Amino acid sequence: MNKVVFITGATSGFGRATARRFAEDGWSLVLSGRRLERLEELQQELQAQVPVHIAQLDVRDAAAVQRMVAELPEGFRQVRALINNAGLALAPEPAQKVALQDWHTMIDTNITGLVNVTHAVLPALLETGKGASIVNIGSVAGEWPYPGGHVYGASKAFVKQFSFNLRCDLIATGVRVTDIAPGMAETEFTLVRTKGNQAASDALYGSTTPLTAEDIAEQIFYVASLPDHININRLEIMPSRQAWSPFAVDRD
Ligand SMILES: NC(=O)c1ccc[n+]([C@@H]2O[C@H](COP(=O)([O-])OP(=O)(O)OC[C@H]3O[C@@H](n4cnc5c(N)ncnc54)[C@H](OP(=O)(O)O)[C@@H]3O)[C@@H](O)[C@H]2O)c1
Repeated sequence: MNKVVFITGATSGFGRATARRFAEDGWSLVLSGRRLERLEELQQELQAQVPVHIAQLDVRDAAAVQRMVAELPEGFRQVRALINNAGLALAPEPAQKVALQDWHTMIDTNITGLVNVTHAVLPALLETGKGASIVNIGSVAGEWPYPGGHVYGASKAFVKQFSFNLRCDLIATGVRVTDIAPGMAETEFTLVRTKGNQAASDALYGSTTPLTAEDIAEQIFYVASLPDHININRLEIMPSRQAWSPFAVDRD
């Protein structure tokens, strides 16, 4: 059977590693993201292995998402796994110092974008039925508060609850839903969050052992390739060298 995986945010980090992982297992790939050259490079790399369809896409644009899904070529329409991975954090500073636009960008990408793609791809997943999967990339920030988490953490809490609620509605359709919640992983995430501050990114990931994009890709592949009677609801994954902090107390 031709298995098709549809990945958002395939130009970097988890999304790109996930494309490579599914290609290893022979899945056909639908890869999207805003940076076309990155998509073309990945297509070039993987097309000798498996069929690859690329589409430049901003998930915030609902009409563009619908158009892209409607225009999927023959052979890529029967989607078996949707990996809702596109997302970002901005503004690590405290809430009271953040520009409103940064909050809007996170909401538009992590919530509206994920909902846009889910709505557009759902009919194909329903047609696939048994064994189909939606894997939503949440975050530990959706469960655990931390300073500077403000809208990012709240957007990932949405991803978790949306995933659980989808499960309720899709129970009889065969379509599974999982919220994967990674902790610290070294990708371009911190470069994006700090608007290009390489030193901040290096400092965060230095002198410890963060997760890699490949670690998360392996988990995504795992949940989407389990026998069809198993649904992993939520998978929270941290590096062994990351844990929680004590409660903060303001003192005189
Ligand atoms: N790294 C971590 O520590 C960590 C931990 C927990 C959760 N996460 C989540 O994991 C997911 C992937 O992040 P990553 O760590 O792999 O970061 P990354 O390397 O920065 O990759 C983010 C991906 O999202 C895409 N993207 C961003 N905005 C988009 C938009 N408007 N439309 C389409 N694609 C968009 C980017 O592609 P373009 O820029 O080309 O569009 C890129 O491919 C995100 O949802 C993130 O919140 C990351």
